Amino acid sequence: MTPLIERFRDRLPVSAATPGVSLGEGSTPLLHAPRLGKLLGIDLYLKWEASNPTGSYKDRGMTVAVSKAAEAGARAVICASTGNTASSAAAYAARAGIPALILIPEGAIAGGKLIQTRALGALVLEVRGSFDQALAAARELSDRGTHALVNSLNPFRIEGQKTAVFEIVEELGAAPDAFVIPYGGGGNTTAYAKGIAESGLATPLYSIEAVDRPNTLATAIRIGTPVHRPKVELSGAHVVAVSDEEIVEAWLQLAREEGLFCEPSSAAGLAFLRRRSGEFQGARVVVTITGHGLKDPDIANRYAPPPVQVDADADAIAAAAAR
Ligand SMILES: Cc1ncc(COP(=O)(O)O)c(C=O)c1O
Repeated sequence: MTPLIERFRDRLPVSAATPGVSLGEGSTPLLHAPRLGKLLGIDLYLKWEASNPTGSYKDRGMTVAVSKAAEAGARAVICASTGNTASSAAAYAARAGIPALILIPEGAIAGGKLIQTRALGALVLEVRGSFDQALAAARELSDRGTHALVNSLNPFRIEGQKTAVFEIVEELGAAPDAFVIPYGGGGNTTAYAKGIAESGLATPLYSIEAVDRPNTLATAIRIGTPVHRPKVELSGAHVVAVSDEEIVEAWLQLAREEGLFCEPSSAAGLAFLRRRSGEFQGARVVVTITGHGLKDPDIANRYAPPPVQVDADADAIAAAAAR
């Protein structure tokens, strides 16, 4: 597979001097979702970003951010993270051969992401505080010059993430009628808005946040104060809030109707479409599914039916299956 930086070299701020730190990111599937689409009356497509190397769309931005950090001679990278940025930063830093320092809010990151980040060799510090406080500390250390910040405040992250729009338009052969994505800190909304503008499109972008931002069960978008909010407001994106109940229903439906097991935050877009499907009848809508379900096994454990115990006997198994 062509690495993202190679595929979109002419639309990214890279040069021959930029080392391509890649794990084979981007070029993710755009899946037509006929079953779910029929239920909603929408020509529905799902951009399956969980198929990126670390299981989330963050890898699109991280390949560019870490490549540019390596080009600039950075000796270490730092980020504050609700989890996916952490895993992605750890993976790309390992690939570049530089250390990663990861700040996570205490007790607030999903189990799969923490394990992944630890296994990838990053130094993980659990900050006694919120994501917003962890980010403030990361910014301060980056200002001191010891670490390159690879949060989405790093403009190279946005550059890499905008490529999802290019892929979608290229694959559909035209712009969809709407893009729908989840909204946590707003980096991806900023990136999609940039990708839409650079493609010369006027396609509406719907950014879906949690009603109860600081406490939502969707930990990836559990961000009290989105750092990109001013840019999101300027971008013209339509911001809509969904409840945790709506997220869970959409998340289960996506798994059961289309076979995509994502993390709850990633189902925020579908939760919005389920509520407002009447406005999109017959429209071609692309919902971006941002991260893999294995990232958050605790949530799956809470909502998916547990296995039923049975004797190793064909009759007993047939009886259990008929129940
Ligand atoms: C899986 C997933 N979806 C959505 C988001 C929200 O994206 P953003 O913070 O760029 O708005 C995140 C952010 O961490 C995420 O990890």
